[in-house]
Amino acid sequence: MSDAESPNAKSSDPISDAIDVVARSAPEIRGGLAGRRRKTDDENASGETQLAADVWADQLLAERLTAIEGVGQFASEEREEVVDCGDDGDYAVAVDPLDGSSNLVSNNSMGTILGVYDGELPASGRDLVAAAYVLYGPITTMVVARDGEVTEYVVEGDGDSDAERRAVREGVTLPDDPTVYGFGGRVPDWTDRFADYASDVEDELKLRYGGAMIGDVNQVVTYGGVFAYPELQSRPEGKLRLQFEGNPIAYIVESAGGASSNGEESLLDADAEAIHQRTPVYVGNEDLVDRLEAEF
Ligand code: F6P
Ligand code: MN
Repeated sequence: MSDAESPNAKSSDPISDAIDVVARSAPEIRGGLAGRRRKTDDENASGETQLAADVWADQLLAERLTAIEGVGQFASEEREEVVDCGDDGDYAVAVDPLDGSSNLVSNNSMGTILGVYDGELPASGRDLVAAAYVLYGPITTMVVARDGEVTEYVVEGDGDSDAERRAVREGVTLPDDPTVYGFGGRVPDWTDRFADYASDVEDELKLRYGGAMIGDVNQVVTYGGVFAYPELQSRPEGKLRLQFEGNPIAYIVESAGGASSNGEESLLDADAEAIHQRTPVYVGNEDLVDRLEAEF
């Protein structure tokens, strides 16, 4: 792999094309956030109020990803229905255009998530052939998992000219000696079994939590540890969505030598029943995820 790859490079590989579209769009998305922090009157399929930025990033990615030859379906957390691309492409792409967009209001980190499935949506995580996320932090980075390899890139560009992604870490793996944890949901709403697990983890690791899954998962990928958006008493199915969030993150973390779970089994083995289905999400170092499953 060359050190600097143009996301605009031509290829006949729809998987690379989808990754490149997201990389190329990242500086543009970032550049368009400042003027799009207001709430709209609309809700997404999960009942969350959409910000102008959610709607805009969804449209931008939809236009570009549906145009890729070989992509047969497009789905987004921000739209109710799966889009049929009118192409008999084998691949389906699923995106969370702006993960953690409530952080846009408070100016904290957010992300964009991509899953490329070789199969019809809703699809099993075992059908993923690539997954990636962009993190809009102090700098824009992108983590891509494909063929069991995880690479971290820095994405540069101002949104007006071509973006470029530069590999900064190849063969990314979770550190063996984990140090951080981040758990979502209101503590009084945690189930007893998750609260028991959390109290063990709190004795061992330090809290790093920012409220956007991508930012919090990237801490775990960088420092080692465990991220959870757990089952809740009020919502046993948790908050995060399997197709757009759970599966792609599980694919990335497992490709980086970590583990994932829905409390019972790897997220990648969970049955895909509906496009916006929710799931509890637990990802991180294998030992920490194994202990969660043992506690459950
Ligand atoms: O996309 C859903 C999301 O914004 C995640 O990024 C994040 O982990 C979670 O919701 C935060 O949820 P809450 O609203 O409970 O803080
Ligand atoms: Mn999200």
